[in-house]
Amino acid sequence: MASIKEILALAPTEQEIAINGWVRTFRSNRFVALNDGSTIHNIQCVLDFENYEEALLKRITTGASLAVIGKLVASQGKGQKVELQVEKLTILGDSDPDKYPIQPKRHTLEFLRENAHLRVRTNTFSAVMRVRSTLAFAVHQYFQEHGFFYVNTPIITGSDAEGAGEMFRVTNLDLNNIPKAEDGKIDTRKDFFGKETNLTVSGQLEAETYAMGLGKVYTFGPTFRAENSNTTRHLAEFWMIEPEVAFNDLEDNMTLAEDFIKYVLKYTLEHCEADLAFLEQRLIQEEKSKPQKDRSDMPLLEKLRFVVDNDFVRLSYTDAIEILKNSKPNKKKKFQFPVNEWGVDLQSEHERFLVEKHFKKPVVLFDYPANIKAFYMRMNEDGKTVRAMDVLFPGIGEMVGGSQREERLDVLQEKMKTIGIDQEELYWYLDTRRFGSAVHSGFGLGFERLVLFATGMGNIRDVIPYPRYPKNAAF
Ligand code: 4AD
Ligand code: MG
Repeated sequence: MASIKEILALAPTEQEIAINGWVRTFRSNRFVALNDGSTIHNIQCVLDFENYEEALLKRITTGASLAVIGKLVASQGKGQKVELQVEKLTILGDSDPDKYPIQPKRHTLEFLRENAHLRVRTNTFSAVMRVRSTLAFAVHQYFQEHGFFYVNTPIITGSDAEGAGEMFRVTNLDLNNIPKAEDGKIDTRKDFFGKETNLTVSGQLEAETYAMGLGKVYTFGPTFRAENSNTTRHLAEFWMIEPEVAFNDLEDNMTLAEDFIKYVLKYTLEHCEADLAFLEQRLIQEEKSKPQKDRSDMPLLEKLRFVVDNDFVRLSYTDAIEILKNSKPNKKKKFQFPVNEWGVDLQSEHERFLVEKHFKKPVVLFDYPANIKAFYMRMNEDGKTVRAMDVLFPGIGEMVGGSQREERLDVLQEKMKTIGIDQEELYWYLDTRRFGSAVHSGFGLGFERLVLFATGMGNIRDVIPYPRYPKNAAF
């Protein structure tokens, strides 16, 4: 059976066509707007109501599923080229209009979040989810076209090495009767894996071992963080894309991140025109209710094209600190965290100032102070900064975090010793530096932050089907 998307692209040749879909609206006992999820556009189905019993017409309500057969004709009305002149209509599934939560009116995003199992039947969420799917496809296409291999790193991990965030424990011990060792602690030897295990916060360390054999690899899988971050940018379960490339240095890594992001956004601009146009209009409506100062100065499509067409700014942490120190909000004490000295971690207010006010475009910050970054990052010759990079996006903040990796065994071991990371547990990671070590680099991109940017949505909980966040694991 052809999809509504395909049918809407046909010429009105009066050919007979069968369509299944859900009723969006039913007007004047005559016009059914039918949608099957294939496109943001509905097909208008026109009934000769004299031919139908009153009882049947009553059952054509928002949310009901129908099968219709009819002739595809040129539309008399505005807004569509073709419409279906219905010859046969069957109700597949009724929907009680008094109980169906999704009505043909504007619902708040909060309300829809509570009805996450039905929200995909709205224009906004179906558009977001089609864009999400397209972006995911583009991610694979980019890497596959560029000689990368897709690797699946473990979701259950036995090492707590990364330190990227708080972890979720994985166990099948009876929590009401936990076995204890002599020292009174949990006897993890009795647990399923015979040791403590957690859900992964990143596939990086395993991806590194694979890059050292396959050359160019990427992961694209679920990641979990138990931080209590109740923000519009954090999820407890999110999808991360992590490329890792042997022989790439930090410059190469920055170039890869920029090229990759531009590619997937361009692909989405080319393949999701109708959805993005709808989301742009949605945003324009939403912005009208905001105070002038909070409004975005660029419509969605223009913003996406701008990112695709312009170079990202590359700026060292040290230069960023200089800009921030001398910035208006810092001098006027408008920052919650004032920037006074080199070495402080950048807060999102600082990142947003740089990308949204100062440069007005994506910024790649690099060479961060070693002690605010992870242990595996390549130490610079200055002995105090590491070859780290964060890609910051307007409205989003950190989209990407990555680095060149420390490839020198002795330097890495020294670092691990200083910050107290167990070298025995991570022997397999250190082996990559023992046997044929080489310069290599990679990064992690939070997929939902990318979807957030591409769709112009304001809350990360609205760009994943069933968001996981503190005190919420519904559905
Ligand atoms: O900066 P992060 O913590 O980096 C790593 O985990 C590295 N191991 C990646 C690597 O080099 N291979 O996370 C990477 C990205 C962030 O920039 C952000 O986009 C996203 O993952 N992210 C989150 N997205 C949603 N919810 C959260 N709680 C996130 N935490 C990180
Ligand atoms: Mg980070």
